[in-house]
Amino acid sequence: MTEVTRRIGLSLGADLCWPLVFEDLVRTLDLRIPVRVTDADGREREETVRFEVERITIEPFDLQQPVRYDLVVDRLTHWYHTSREWIKKAVILDGTYVFNNPWSVQSMEKQTTYCAMMRLGMPIPRTVLIPPKEYQETADLRRTLESYARMFDLGQIGRNMGYPLFMKPYDGGGWVGVSKVDNEAELRDAYEESGRFVMHLQKGVHPYEEFVRCIGLGPQVRLVRYDPTAPLHARYQPADRPFDREHARTLRAIALTINAFFGWDFNSAECLLKDGVWHPIDFANPCPDSQVTSLHEHFPWLVKAKLRWALFCAATRRRFRQNLNWQPFWDVAARPDLDYAHKLELYAAIAERHFDLERFDAFCAEHLGQLDRVAWEYFGTADARRAIRAKVEALFPRHEWDDFTEHFWQSIQRWRKLEEPAT
Ligand SMILES: Nc1ncnc2c1ncn2[C@@H]1O[C@H](COP(=O)(O)OP(=O)(O)O)[C@@H](O)[C@H]1O
Ligand SMILES: [Mg+2]
Repeated sequence: MTEVTRRIGLSLGADLCWPLVFEDLVRTLDLRIPVRVTDADGREREETVRFEVERITIEPFDLQQPVRYDLVVDRLTHWYHTSREWIKKAVILDGTYVFNNPWSVQSMEKQTTYCAMMRLGMPIPRTVLIPPKEYQETADLRRTLESYARMFDLGQIGRNMGYPLFMKPYDGGGWVGVSKVDNEAELRDAYEESGRFVMHLQKGVHPYEEFVRCIGLGPQVRLVRYDPTAPLHARYQPADRPFDREHARTLRAIALTINAFFGWDFNSAECLLKDGVWHPIDFANPCPDSQVTSLHEHFPWLVKAKLRWALFCAATRRRFRQNLNWQPFWDVAARPDLDYAHKLELYAAIAERHFDLERFDAFCAEHLGQLDRVAWEYFGTADARRAIRAKVEALFPRHEWDDFTEHFWQSIQRWRKLEEPAT
């Protein structure tokens, strides 16, 4: 049987821990996966697929220069334009598969994602967009504002929406420029401070009963409770309390719907529970946190999920969706005979088809049966500890390196105790 190599490229920024684990696991797994391919003349044959993982470097590139990667895991597109443009070229000219879709990452900010999910009927809190407080001088600015910018009464908007409110950038991320305002004075202060940001004013889901981050990788979703008031390394909560089945189903459906809709194979959706209803509040996060220093005991799941999805897409040459297809979702949204719960089920079914759930499950069962054990063993080794330490050293002051390495190592060991696979 012919042996072929699928190259997985990692386009990285400050990621230190998961790439080390990802590379080590691919090496240890040493996979040989038989796949059926159809030749140009229509004849079917089997090939044995092997994998190589490489880190992608940043350098000048000719637009016509072939790209060596079958699949790219991209962590730079949201801010580093050279890599973003290289990835777009790779998709168009070389047929590379990338997660996430760079055009979608570039254009789908919070604002668009709120609007689209509102149309699908999701209970997104009421949100108002406000023109910015200050501007960069440009040639047409004065004329435009003098002619068309209406004076508005911020206090009136606040009274009308009701406090507490959250003021935050319409395209925000990483908690930059977010403030909770409880009254008109705080609202005016927050607006004064917002400068050139274009801000949303959003009704607070307050008080909420639960805060959950739904991390999605292809059809795989993990629900993690989250405490935004805890210190950074302790915000993701341990998986010690199971989720109610109905809640888990709803959250999985919300996450899959969002991710399939926007073409994000890897994304994280923040949802707040109030009076039995899950409100998604922040779900344009297509470069989600992947660090052991925040995910601690959830980190092994994340690396395994990323690995499964990358291997599946690369091995089977999963077709990369360059353009989004919103119509099937709109068609469900427009049905007058269905309530939101039923619509959500239908959206999730579209999403599961989009993410090839059945083929993916079959692939994992057939070819990745040893992954759980290999990863479980790996996370007890000195290499795993080195990967943890690499991130700790990048994030914490020197005098905390030993303590925090030990802290995250212990949380991973707790995970190993709970998740030892059956032999
Ligand atoms: N409507 C809201 N109701 C309650 N809390 C909110 C709301 N919007 C934002 N927050 C709080 O502010 C944090 C940051 O806002 P978010 O929309 O997640 O922005 P970012 O994209 O910067 O993460 C959230 O994690 C949550 O704790
Ligand atoms: Mg957020």
